[in-house]
Amino acid sequence: MPPSEAAVAPEAEPLVVRRPLPHDSAPRHVTGAATYIDDIREPAGLVHLAPGYAPIARGRITALDLDAVRSAPGVVDVITAADLPGPNDISPKLIGDDPAITDGPVRFYGQVAFIVVATTRDAARRAAKRARFTTVAEPPVIDVDQASDHVLPDYSFVRGNAQTAIDRAGRRLEGSFRIGGQEHFYLEGQIAMAVPGEAGEMLVYSSTQHPSEVQHVVAHALNLPSSAVTVEIRRMGGGFGGKESQATQWAVLAAIAAWKTGRPAKFRLDRDDDMIMTGKRHDFRCDYSVGIDGEGVLSGVDVVFSARCGHSEDLSLGVVDRTMFHADNSYFYPECRVTARRLRTNTVSNTAFRGFGGPQGMLFAERMMDHIAYTLGRDPLDVRKANFYREGRDRTPFGQQVTDNILAELIGDLETRSDYRARREAIAAFNAGSRILKRGLALTPVKFGISFTLMPLNQAGALVHLYRDGSIHLNHGGTEMGQGLFTKVAMVVAEEFGVSADAVRITATSTDKVPNTSPTAASSGTDLNAMAAVAACGAIKDRLYDFIAEKWKVGRDKVAFREGQVFIGNQSMSLGALANEAYLNRVHLSAAGHYKTPVISWNRDKAEGRPFFYFAYGAACSEVLVDTMTGEMKVERVDVLHDVGKSLNPAIDIGQIEGGFVQGMGWLTTEELVWDKEGRLRTHAPSTYKIPAASDIPENFKVELYESAGNREATIWRSKAVGEPPLMLGISVFCAIVNAIASLRPGIMPALDAPATPEAIMRAVRATTAGEG
Ligand code: MTE
Ligand code: MOS
Repeated sequence: MPPSEAAVAPEAEPLVVRRPLPHDSAPRHVTGAATYIDDIREPAGLVHLAPGYAPIARGRITALDLDAVRSAPGVVDVITAADLPGPNDISPKLIGDDPAITDGPVRFYGQVAFIVVATTRDAARRAAKRARFTTVAEPPVIDVDQASDHVLPDYSFVRGNAQTAIDRAGRRLEGSFRIGGQEHFYLEGQIAMAVPGEAGEMLVYSSTQHPSEVQHVVAHALNLPSSAVTVEIRRMGGGFGGKESQATQWAVLAAIAAWKTGRPAKFRLDRDDDMIMTGKRHDFRCDYSVGIDGEGVLSGVDVVFSARCGHSEDLSLGVVDRTMFHADNSYFYPECRVTARRLRTNTVSNTAFRGFGGPQGMLFAERMMDHIAYTLGRDPLDVRKANFYREGRDRTPFGQQVTDNILAELIGDLETRSDYRARREAIAAFNAGSRILKRGLALTPVKFGISFTLMPLNQAGALVHLYRDGSIHLNHGGTEMGQGLFTKVAMVVAEEFGVSADAVRITATSTDKVPNTSPTAASSGTDLNAMAAVAACGAIKDRLYDFIAEKWKVGRDKVAFREGQVFIGNQSMSLGALANEAYLNRVHLSAAGHYKTPVISWNRDKAEGRPFFYFAYGAACSEVLVDTMTGEMKVERVDVLHDVGKSLNPAIDIGQIEGGFVQGMGWLTTEELVWDKEGRLRTHAPSTYKIPAASDIPENFKVELYESAGNREATIWRSKAVGEPPLMLGISVFCAIVNAIASLRPGIMPALDAPATPEAIMRAVRATTAGEG
């Protein structure tokens, strides 16, 4: 079988893929030997950058006195908007709404007003504090309730007439609730280092998920062609979406400093500045009304999502669209209207964050299921099941048919594994006998669409070299941020050449090796880049097959690449011996590969098409204990069953599921962003912003992979994307907390906003017991 076909044939028996190999850099991560940008040996003459920003959230800088900054020790230069060589714009699509440095107007607290360039980072930071601002402040618009200006027009998916369907229904429910944002808290903060070269060239090391965009925007800012700018990244210490568009500004500013001073320049944001100055997960207010029958089956859904986008557009089009694409989660809405409002506020520009808006849409769906269940006094799992997509009820609000539905099997399986029904009874008995401590249990599904909804991004490139000694050099457009992409793609390439995974040299992502790449995002890194790598391997192997046929008169069906050897009819030789032989006969041993996702289409204006190649599914069952006197909460047990198709690497996939779950749980329980009335973020350090720690991982936490024949679509080795979907498994914790509070008073939906901090839990407990729920 030709190689590229083997890689998508479910029956093929691979030797390298499907094995639980460790992350290629794991030992280097834990010993400190892995090179992050701040670990790169510093070039001679390096200067360091620090930002300065105005102490207001909205208004104007009328005067900026930088004399004391310039005369501070170690200062080499100070850069303001007036010093920029090219257009002052770092917005992803270069639409001009996001200046690198403001030239006067202030639109959020933390907006860059000037940059200090100094011989040390410490000197730059000390000097930045010496600026004197004269400003005219206006009252800032902080949240969606105050906002009236939009970063983008409203957008809706409409099927039938939701309002008449709701009016006709036996019962109508209405609600409004808030979904909090989330700080990425990547361990490695935003960083870039720019090194000027000859003839105006610029090499930029950037901790970015999107090297091509950084290249493009740096070139734009320096008035250079893209060919003069190279962006390289070996690995990030976490990205989580926070480095998809928002790594650009720091790279651009480093490049400008390098251009202006002629010296290499490094910009590493301080943690507090990183939290104050960069965008986060969008927070929402969600208003809905639904119509149901006596069993809780939906007939109409009308929901409006109001998203806090911040001061500029950034990625709010795609992010908030994905909220809409996941407002159904796993449920059929016969008639519906799903609307999103993208509101402009005087806060940081919100951006991608694992799930890319999907989690917020899905939380609405689960919230609505709970609302129905508690109002009718039914078990929430039964209401969920009654509304699942199934045959004849399988069209999403955006028109795509759900053809790979495994919800019933997967949820049924988890229901048994987690012993849901017996525990439901045990919890009811416990709660009946416990006045203050209440237990809650929830089993919630995840259905997540895989593909970029911006169609051109669904492509990838790879570059593979086979050297004369048989060693293999691999490069592709994807970036490594800890998710194991490089390991997975290397395994796929090793499989193609029949060598072990460590025989494939993994190399830094670089725009001069593979051009015009997509961001590593939308969980599509492996789906896209591994396929491109297979195409590159296939091109090299095709040439080798031709060479073998010519030299040894053996057809490709009698040739096998296995265990580092090449079997040619009755003889065998090492891959190196064959490569050398081929080289001596002038065979080209390097190839670029390209892949584009088949089948998909999306017309946003008409809201028509099939935006997703397939769906990834999963479910989690969480049990919590809530102290209704203090609002404290403990997650006691979690069972997860998650669908990764046929796993390329079960160890890495389980790691992604565990990490995703915990990050989702953090979003919905402890991570709270607080801005004051002046627009200052008050939670800008780990002392005030609580991410889950190792001790917050549930003690009884069981993660299992759903077994199946694999992805029904022809993805790489029939695997499925895993990066983002598991984050939404964390919703089960939130719903379990709601369940515990609901036990206080039957017939009432607890008014719990996310995140369910102890304070929020206390408010919901009070409202529920007061009967205002
Ligand atoms: N896992 C780790 N360890 N670190 C990360 O930054 N980012 C997540 C997810 N898993 C992330 C992670 C996000 S937001 C995405 S979109 C995917 O990984 C991107 O990688 P993939 O497409 O290769 O799955
Ligand atoms: Mo992930 S939010 O798509 O970078």
